[in-house]
Amino acid sequence: MTRFTVAIDGPAAAGKGTISKAVAAHFGFAHLDTGLLYRAVGAKVLTGVDPVRAAKALTAQDLGGDLRTPEVAQAASRVAVLPDVRAALVTFQRDFALREGGAVLDGRDIGTVICPDAQVKLFVTASAAVRAERRFLELLDKGLDVTREEVLADVIARDTRDRERAEAPLKPADDAVVIDTSDMNIEDAVGAAVAQVQKGLGLT
Ligand code: CDP
Ligand code: CDP
Repeated sequence: MTRFTVAIDGPAAAGKGTISKAVAAHFGFAHLDTGLLYRAVGAKVLTGVDPVRAAKALTAQDLGGDLRTPEVAQAASRVAVLPDVRAALVTFQRDFALREGGAVLDGRDIGTVICPDAQVKLFVTASAAVRAERRFLELLDKGLDVTREEVLADVIARDTRDRERAEAPLKPADDAVVIDTSDMNIEDAVGAAVAQVQKGLGLT
């Protein structure tokens, strides 16, 4: 096995990152959180930089700061509707997906647009209320001053924008396996994802 791509898509705070990291660790694959690319562009735009220019000039350094705030998330989803921003980020993602040794990419359009030929496609979801509560606890833990209502509003606004945009909207690929984590703990969600990858690898 040299090249093997796992595409994990889904709405905000569904558990994509957690599951992707665990799957990558389990199989020794590399992991790319593609949301970070859009967050980095969003963060640049908040400082006054043009979004397309920011996307074309993205460096590893831009991905290093604290991008996991609600303000940056909103800015990310606003720049993510722009076709030229998305186009500027495609090659990096596809190259990552085809690296030797296997790769897991998580985002919104991995199974539909970035890697339509991925060997395994998962669509990880959960109810908006569950996702907002998880993200709220996570942000509280980081010491951010947010309310439940604000976090729920952020999640719903981003999901709506991500689903309704013309370019690469959030939706499961026709051949994706849907994993609804509303009633699953992390261990069970990771177990369900690992089982799908084992199947994709022909191990079961
Ligand atoms: O990457 P994404 O935004 O989809 O979600 P995440 O950052 O992996 O997960 C959001 C939060 O939900 C994290 O704090 C996870 O620990 C938590 N989580 C959970 O409580 N139960 C799950 N089944 C999956 C994630
Ligand atoms: O962690 P969470 O699921 O809340 O968000 P994220 O994955 O970091 O993505 C932030 C925003 O970037 C999303 O709301 C999308 O608008 C955008 N995004 C996208 O359009 N395409 C991707 N492949 C990844 C993220």
